[in-house]
Amino acid sequence: MKALIALLPGDGIGPEVVNQGARLLRAVAERFGHSFELIEAPMGGVAIDLTGSPLPPDTLALCQRADAVLLGAVGGPKWDPPAKVRPEQGLLALRKAMGLYANLRPVAPFPALYDASSLKPEVLRGVDLLVVRELTGGIYFGEKRREEHQAFDACVYTVEEVVRVVRAAASLARGRRKRLTSVDKANVLETSRLWREVTTRVIRDEFPDIELKHLLVDACAMHLIKRPADFDVIVTENMFGDILTDEAAMLSGSIGMLPSASLGDNRRGLYEPIHGSAPDIAGKGVANPYGTLLSVAMLLRHSLQLEPEARAVEAAVASAIDAGVLSADLLPSGQSAAGTEEMGAAVLARLGKRA
Ligand code: IPM
Ligand code: MG
Repeated sequence: MKALIALLPGDGIGPEVVNQGARLLRAVAERFGHSFELIEAPMGGVAIDLTGSPLPPDTLALCQRADAVLLGAVGGPKWDPPAKVRPEQGLLALRKAMGLYANLRPVAPFPALYDASSLKPEVLRGVDLLVVRELTGGIYFGEKRREEHQAFDACVYTVEEVVRVVRAAASLARGRRKRLTSVDKANVLETSRLWREVTTRVIRDEFPDIELKHLLVDACAMHLIKRPADFDVIVTENMFGDILTDEAAMLSGSIGMLPSASLGDNRRGLYEPIHGSAPDIAGKGVANPYGTLLSVAMLLRHSLQLEPEARAVEAAVASAIDAGVLSADLLPSGQSAAGTEEMGAAVLARLGKRA
């Protein structure tokens, strides 16, 4: 197949990990007989420095005509508040402009990495959960205002915004263990009471085969580390999803392991590791690229519908991990670690050809 893939390396370790992602995409194209056109564009802090905007119009136009977008990370101390124009605004604008309201963050720890986690192996065994985070609404996008002695961030959700993300999550649950946990703060927030009502109705009317449970966000934070294997699909609003997925990443051993896919009403999607730009280790060739390589697998699966290729990539990453090709974030300190380049190469070396 032919596909156009936009690459947005971004800031910090972003370029290093996206570089490995691009290498993997080229290898998949070659070995499975596809033609992928990869076009790179500036986004985030680097784009601010180049153009004054974190999401220049040409970058957005490229993303809108691409079949999929692979992004590294954005942000860094150079553009932190009080700066008025910040890299993160570009990412939020991109998600919104592309209509990517459902953010899929799967957490399925590799057994070889149980020791890398701060949790006990017996808690991690059998963990295979998927967080579906609402991505274009809520407090991230409500009106913001600053006055001399107070500040405001409005949290707004419409019925339609809840309906579409719950449908997306329930459809995904259908292909899994058919259990959906909806996370809210309905004991305090009006938006959460709406969320709970709408979720209950959508599941009752359209997904009677799905078992729905509601959980308050504070309890969910606790249960995620107490009994993570009990979860199948979790659906939640934007900010709760942001926070819970950094927590859930610890189940996989390192935040560097977690991929994500952001999807809307069509196949076009944005794929990014959930980690940040890690300015402290940027440019040293030591960043963990596995979250990005697993994001490439999600890109192949969801935007290009190349399931065998996606599985081949996941199997290659698993095999490299089993062989002990690990970056410092996955190892006890003092143990000798693999670099970004070496990890990318280890995955390429294990990528199968079409049978
Ligand atoms: C994430 C990140 C972003 C978010 C930041 C960089 C704006 O933390 O993708 O989880 O909060 O959505
Ligand atoms: Mg986050």
